[in-house]
Amino acid sequence: MRAKKPADQQREKLLRIARTAMKKAYAPYSKFRVGAALLTTTGKIFSGCNVENASYGMTNCAERTAIFSAVAEMGPKLEISAIAVANDQGVPCSPCGACRQVIYEFGPDATVFFQDAKGQQEAHITKLLPEGFRLK
Ligand code: THU
Repeated sequence: MRAKKPADQQREKLLRIARTAMKKAYAPYSKFRVGAALLTTTGKIFSGCNVENASYGMTNCAERTAIFSAVAEMGPKLEISAIAVANDQGVPCSPCGACRQVIYEFGPDATVFFQDAKGQQEAHITKLLPEGFRLK
């Protein structure tokens, strides 16, 4: 068997960490556990899970939990190079619109790993979010 390419190894590592983070999800309402893991341009990895609330709209998706936790530790210069998303039901789950905008804020060149109807996918953030909003 041929050795895996570094990019494949990196994707698998992020997905593995996303699956571990998923187990910590607080999802008593939807029962849909999601985990995310991101790689910074400096080579650090941060993860997060979805955190729901009885006031449903207050729910924080796994992707934003991971990103906010990375900013809390790294500070405002965070740059996301890649982010992976996993869920506990093995169903298609790409980042929601709000999370795409937040990924774009810190990773305008980020690669996103997620599952769609065809299986595991990889897409540039600008494909998922054309014309993302920037204030500067
Ligand atoms: N969710 C995420 O955490 N990430 C996604 O990419 C899609 C949706 C969460 C939000 C909510 O807690 C649950 O999944 C059902 O929508």
